[in-house]
Amino acid sequence: MSKIILTGDRPTGRLHVGHYVGSLKRRVELQNSGEFDKIFIMIADAQALTDNADNPEKIRQNVIEVALDYLSVGLDPAKSNLFIQSQISELTELTFFYMNLVTVSRLQRNPTVKAEIQMRNFEASIPVGFFTYPISQASDITAFKATTVPVGEDQLPMLEQTKEIVRKFNSVYGETLVEPEILLPDNEACLRLPGTDGKAKMSKSLGNCIYLSDTEEDVRNKVMSMYTDPDHIKITDPGKIEGNTVFTYLDAFSKPEHFAEFLPEYNNLDELKEHYQRGGLGDVKVKKFLNNVLQDELSPIRKRRAEFEKDIPEVYNILKKGSDIAREAAASTLSEVKRAMKINYFEDEALIKEQSEKYSR
Ligand code: TRP
Repeated sequence: MSKIILTGDRPTGRLHVGHYVGSLKRRVELQNSGEFDKIFIMIADAQALTDNADNPEKIRQNVIEVALDYLSVGLDPAKSNLFIQSQISELTELTFFYMNLVTVSRLQRNPTVKAEIQMRNFEASIPVGFFTYPISQASDITAFKATTVPVGEDQLPMLEQTKEIVRKFNSVYGETLVEPEILLPDNEACLRLPGTDGKAKMSKSLGNCIYLSDTEEDVRNKVMSMYTDPDHIKITDPGKIEGNTVFTYLDAFSKPEHFAEFLPEYNNLDELKEHYQRGGLGDVKVKKFLNNVLQDELSPIRKRRAEFEKDIPEVYNILKKGSDIAREAAASTLSEVKRAMKINYFEDEALIKEQSEKYSR
């Protein structure tokens, strides 16, 4: 069986370093591993509209931001199809058919949807489109016969829902769809990178994100004002590593070679942590090191972004080509789905013959 990746992001803002360690970096590695037959990376604008229906301009602006972020981290249009969800109408057709296989109470139990409904104060009046987006996400995944879906932990319930739909579809209509596997980040710090203020999640409204498109200076300022251990007041005080954002970021980003290059007094992160815990190591020194580590990772990304920013029409062209390829793949699955569901009237000669015979008797 071919190995196929599908994944994507809602274009509601620029992508940040949490997206990077949580998913983007892995995608690029998977892309370059050569192990996959096809890779589809989707800008989920239709899904973004399910809770931004009154703000289409925001989504429109962020489609290009996300595309630039994708290209700048090294997703390569020659290897990965980058496409825009709303341009693949086959996806909405699939959604309509899958809706018959899912109950309202099952959707209500989806923990991610539950949390999002609360966060957006939708309790009293949930838009139907938003409520049913897990079904649309199942269409995104199954339309491409994806075997592998690299995403963050918050997407686990979506994958569970998708698998249920696949099993249900296949058992009712015959073996047609492929059950996908989720691929989670393997590093604990990458799974849930906190905001620069130490809050559990990076979010634009909290202003605690480091964006992939931030300038060198932005990154430095954000790192230097990062949350650390509030009880580590004097340099000689023993410091705490747990819940210390600077160390969480180092867990996510630092590599052994960074020590040789930027902080040769220590051989590795464990030695640095030990010293901090013992006392005698100041926050500023650790932050400066983190800044070097981050700049090392982000500066090639920034440079690549600047190149693509010079030719925006080409970026749209890449998305258009990717969307054409995606549409073809989705159309082929949709036609299998329709055949399985017995709604392929005009291409079913046996049906026409059977009906003719019935009436010529
Ligand atoms: N739900 C994802 C997000 O919030 C975006 C998304 C839409 C997606 N469809 C998908 C991710 C299919 C993986 C597979 O960013």
